[in-house]
Amino acid sequence: MQTELSQELGIEHAVFGFTPFPAVAAAISRAGGFGVLGAVRYTAPDELRRDLDWIEAHVGGRPYGLDVVMPAKKVEGVTEADVEAMIPEGHRQFVRDTLAKHGVPELAEGEASGWRITGWMEQVARGQLDVAFDYPIRLLANALGSPPADVIARAHDQSVLVAALAGSARHARKHRDAGIDIVVAQGYEAGGHTGEIASMVLTPEVVDAVAPLPVLAAGGIGSGQQVAAALALGAQGVWLGSLWLTTTEADLHSPALTRKLLAAGSGDTVRSRALTGKPARQLRTEWTDAWDDPDGPGTLPMPLQGLLVAEAVSRIQKYEVDPLLGTPVGQIVGRMTSERSVQAVFDDLTRGFERAVDRVNRIAGRSGQ
Ligand SMILES: Cc1cc2nc3c(=O)[nH]c(=O)nc-3n(C[C@H](O)[C@H](O)[C@H](O)COP(=O)(O)O)c2cc1C
Repeated sequence: MQTELSQELGIEHAVFGFTPFPAVAAAISRAGGFGVLGAVRYTAPDELRRDLDWIEAHVGGRPYGLDVVMPAKKVEGVTEADVEAMIPEGHRQFVRDTLAKHGVPELAEGEASGWRITGWMEQVARGQLDVAFDYPIRLLANALGSPPADVIARAHDQSVLVAALAGSARHARKHRDAGIDIVVAQGYEAGGHTGEIASMVLTPEVVDAVAPLPVLAAGGIGSGQQVAAALALGAQGVWLGSLWLTTTEADLHSPALTRKLLAAGSGDTVRSRALTGKPARQLRTEWTDAWDDPDGPGTLPMPLQGLLVAEAVSRIQKYEVDPLLGTPVGQIVGRMTSERSVQAVFDDLTRGFERAVDRVNRIAGRSGQ
């Protein structure tokens, strides 16, 4: 699974893996792919430094990257407290009522909720970058639009390639015009924030829109056959996020959540604003149903919704409240039916890829060539 981009990066397989877990990122790179650590949860620079040190010690000299969530629109001088103050009391009450209905216990005194909006604020993302540029990262990806021009320039000064996610050809062109090196075309099937265009339509559209820039196909990829399809559509590689969640190296901290993921079918996700205020694909739960119910208060815009539900999500996860327990994940969850090591996932991807290529060669009358 070699393309010009994989050769440029010196990796064996053109498989890029987004993951919030350092152990998964290192294992992806060791297996011959390209691990990309999601930085959004690191609000303290020292924690990011500790985990990048860990990756450096365990990645076996292979290349890896970092993903930040820098919003395209700059919000100056707004603190978390300012955002808190904008949340209507009716929405707070709805959260309290929904948690009470399911008997979700409180966090212990002084226990911080794990997930805050601050990772999405530009000054926090810049703090993450100050740390990351001390390490030999080869790629910097941004989830919400192109990073600011000075960040792109700084990355290029350090020979770091810059990637950005796009859900439409229009977004992809904007990234190209901003000086991005790689576009990640992320289809509707994907876990996390997604647009409305399916990968089958999006990938070739984006490839044509930004040629000759390399495009990675993301969304709905979990087998070697799907990797072959993405490369046939013109992608220079694939970018996978969901598949790693049930690897043995992943640290979900919740056996109940792992069980739910392994049991879920491809129809058990929903694209909902419940988590962040922007449509993000995730497991469908009674929590997402409550927010999507037309009789409810509805969700708030980003970043209000994320702040509103942060503590509730931590409580649901900590106490593993099954009907409400969820995570961002894509439709490929239907293929995630057993816990496997990252290396086993790669073995499966390469075998499936070879089978798909053989099959297409046979169809094209090229068997034995
Ligand atoms: C649990 C989870 C968290 C994610 N968080 C981010 C993120 O912080 N930044 C980002 O660029 N993409 C994020 N994504 C999207 C992935 O980078 C990737 O584009 C997507 O998972 C690909 O589609 P797939 O889920 O079908 O593999 C997340 C995906 C998942 C499943």
